[in-house]
Amino acid sequence: MRFDVLTLFPGMFTGPFSEGVVGRAMEKGLVEVRLHDFRKYARDRHGTVDDAPFGGGAGMVLKPEPLFEAVDVLKAEAGPEGVGPVIMLSPQGRVLAQALAEELARQPRMVLICGRYEGVDERVRERLATDEISVGDYVLSGGELAAMVLMDAVSRLVPGVVGSPKSTEGDTFSGGLLQHPQYTRPPEYRGWRAPEVLLSGNHGEIARWRRRESLRRTLLRRPDLLERAALSEEERRFVEELRREMGKPSVEGDGGH
Ligand SMILES: C[S@@+](CC[C@H](N)C(=O)[O-])C[C@H]1O[C@@H](n2cnc3c(N)ncnc32)[C@H](O)[C@@H]1O
Repeated sequence: MRFDVLTLFPGMFTGPFSEGVVGRAMEKGLVEVRLHDFRKYARDRHGTVDDAPFGGGAGMVLKPEPLFEAVDVLKAEAGPEGVGPVIMLSPQGRVLAQALAEELARQPRMVLICGRYEGVDERVRERLATDEISVGDYVLSGGELAAMVLMDAVSRLVPGVVGSPKSTEGDTFSGGLLQHPQYTRPPEYRGWRAPEVLLSGNHGEIARWRRRESLRRTLLRRPDLLERAALSEEERRFVEELRREMGKPSVEGDGGH
């Protein structure tokens, strides 16, 4: 997996990607991160990459030329295989969710454009970017942190990056639900015991407990996810029981959608 990141602040990426899962994946050659300071493609000797918005208003807007030219160079180097999707990080894009991270993890490479200031000239969005992705409904001061969030979420889905595929398959959102609670040693801490079933060694019971706790937690915290999740009849009945216990309105009759 290769990420080509167009940024005015390449130094921001050093810390987060020198350690941890992505850092190790880069060492192993499973993930490659190429940082491109697009100021290099500015047209004047001052390295100007932004200008005042046409029509007036606050702040500065990133000019189109440096971004188009940086991507042109990448495309020329890549040849017929191409550079993959050209993704602009933007609070106006489709919101990054696990399903989108899974979709992106199937790409061999992609370009990430990090905006700054008041944003990016609209022609970049219309004519250069093939996708626009947001990391949530809030405004960051630049696209770098958003790009790092995307790269982390996508990299850990690349085969070999996280030890066993089981650890990402069971993650929150992967199966459409929140993950069950986790416990580890000691079995008792300050008088608080881990659930006995987890200490029992009975794998069938453990799997059933986990699935039910996952359903309970999702109903409590993210009922919107439950409505889209693929549940067995027994699981649907369990959720209905929980709803009744909690005094929540039933969704029976809407087909679970
Ligand atoms: C201050 S923001 C510009 C916001 C813009 N004026 C608007 O209202 O849509 C500067 C840059 O930060 C990045 N950014 C800000 N919030 C983001 C978010 N939620 N997701 C992804 N990128 C974001 C984008 O690259 C954006 O161009």
